[in-house]
Amino acid sequence: MPRPTLDSILEGRRSQPHQLIEVLQDVQENYGYISEEAIRAISKELGVPLMGVYSVASFYKAFTLKPRGKNVITVCTGTACHVRGAKLVLNQAIGQLGVAPGETTGDGLFTVEHVNCIGACALGPVVTENGSCHHHMNPGKLRKLIKSLRNPETEEAVHA
Ligand code: FES
Repeated sequence: MPRPTLDSILEGRRSQPHQLIEVLQDVQENYGYISEEAIRAISKELGVPLMGVYSVASFYKAFTLKPRGKNVITVCTGTACHVRGAKLVLNQAIGQLGVAPGETTGDGLFTVEHVNCIGACALGPVVTENGSCHHHMNPGKLRKLIKSLRNPETEEAVHA
């Protein structure tokens, strides 16, 4: 199915400032991030000041203002995961991919992020990748996971 245009996302929502979050969610879901162009259009069409749209879009972690990589590696660094070595897991991602949290590799393949808790504390350290949850992670397991995402034909070996 083709990606809906910004115009079609705004359809039926114009001049309705209370639709801001829903519109931002739709843009994020369909485009992977919220561009400056989208922020300007949303501001104009919903009648929300530019700073208001920007504030909401930058406040919620569900929204990103920069394009994300094809694979988003999110390391939970909440307390339960932290005490089980989440910092080492995050450092593995940073070292292996050469980007800081919130950044995307130059080839557009990976974005590294961290979150405070995803509610699976007993399984930590936890890493999510494109909607899949990987539990009891350590640097070695993450290294293999990243390698398998780079070379999908080896992915089965990691999940086996
Ligand atoms: S602290 Fe990591 S899942 Fe809760």
